[in-house]
Amino acid sequence: KKKKRRFRFFRFLNVLIILFLIGYGFYIFTTPKNVRELKKLKYSNEAIEIIIDKNLDEYIINKKAYSKTLDVALVKGGYKEEYLEEYLNLPYKNYDEYIIHVNELNNLNYTRTSVLSIINKLDKSEIETIIENEIVLDNITSYFDNKYFKIDNLGRYANYKKKNEKYDIDTVISYVNMYLDYPLYGHDIEIADVDDLLVIANKYYKLGKDYVPKDLVTIDAKYRNSYNHQVRSIVKENYQKMAEDMFKIGLHPTVTSSYRSYSTQKILYDAEVAANGVTYADKYSARPGYSEHQTGLAIDVKDGSGNYAFFKNSDEYKWMKDNAHKYGFILRYPEGKEHITGYAFEAWHYRYVGVDIATYIYENDLTFDEYYMMFIANKKD
Ligand code: DAL
Ligand code: ZN
Repeated sequence: KKKKRRFRFFRFLNVLIILFLIGYGFYIFTTPKNVRELKKLKYSNEAIEIIIDKNLDEYIINKKAYSKTLDVALVKGGYKEEYLEEYLNLPYKNYDEYIIHVNELNNLNYTRTSVLSIINKLDKSEIETIIENEIVLDNITSYFDNKYFKIDNLGRYANYKKKNEKYDIDTVISYVNMYLDYPLYGHDIEIADVDDLLVIANKYYKLGKDYVPKDLVTIDAKYRNSYNHQVRSIVKENYQKMAEDMFKIGLHPTVTSSYRSYSTQKILYDAEVAANGVTYADKYSARPGYSEHQTGLAIDVKDGSGNYAFFKNSDEYKWMKDNAHKYGFILRYPEGKEHITGYAFEAWHYRYVGVDIATYIYENDLTFDEYYMMFIANKKD
């Protein structure tokens, strides 16, 4: 009985094998070799038909290349002969316009590496932005790799780089993020948290007309000229500490300007314009609403001679430029940074930011505008 059963089983197996061989033979006999090869590579039947139709079969088979991107381009449309190599190389992304996007990016003359990093890095709507605005950036991968890169600024990076070929990519990103691609006073940003100790006021960040710091205190008489100068309390405390240490070594700093209201700033700026014209005034005097003095965090300091123009030659300045950070103050408009701060070098103008940040800015030779872009603005959006 056992033997009989085993015999039946083998007979069944034989029949199965024979049927399989017949089927396979039939397949080999009726299916051309190239179709079989393309199937092996995993192309869809519809794609295979088109591949053969377009005479691409030999090429693809020789390369042993499967690409879902190519499959979809052929089947769903969008295939362009000149981009065959790109379809073969690019990973597939699953959305309707993908093949069109691949074509368009290539039309913009992006290199293969650039197209690949755009596709890997950006989503559909971001890629659309590039295409719709015809944004072309050489070396786009290096932009993506920059820590401060913002996709929303892509078009502005491209324009700014075109106008400023001499700037490297890091500079372009940092300057555009600081709005330097807009004219000075040409792009107002209303400041939200004006009371923050790290508030920035410059030719883009604007203070409200009515903004007055809540904790203004008058600097003690010993540390200022005859005017009742006011600053925020933390500034008074730290300035007076610094001044004391300066007195001890025979230096004589005096605060000659401090908190200024919007209307005071207007009077000063208008007077400067009347005396020296707008171009000159804008180098040294902020337009009302844009002055750091309105934050109560800035002071102007003079030496005994009381002359701004000579302050940069004074011992007071020589000491302050290398020591003020230890008390939380930075030189706000340094020499050689006019293109970033928007103001000429002002040896006398100091801004309180706290010891840690002042030290960082001092050691890295930054302006507050740059620091703000790197560490504060980034955190907010
Ligand atoms: N002098 C500085 C720039 C101001 O007017 O705020
Ligand atoms: Zn000042």
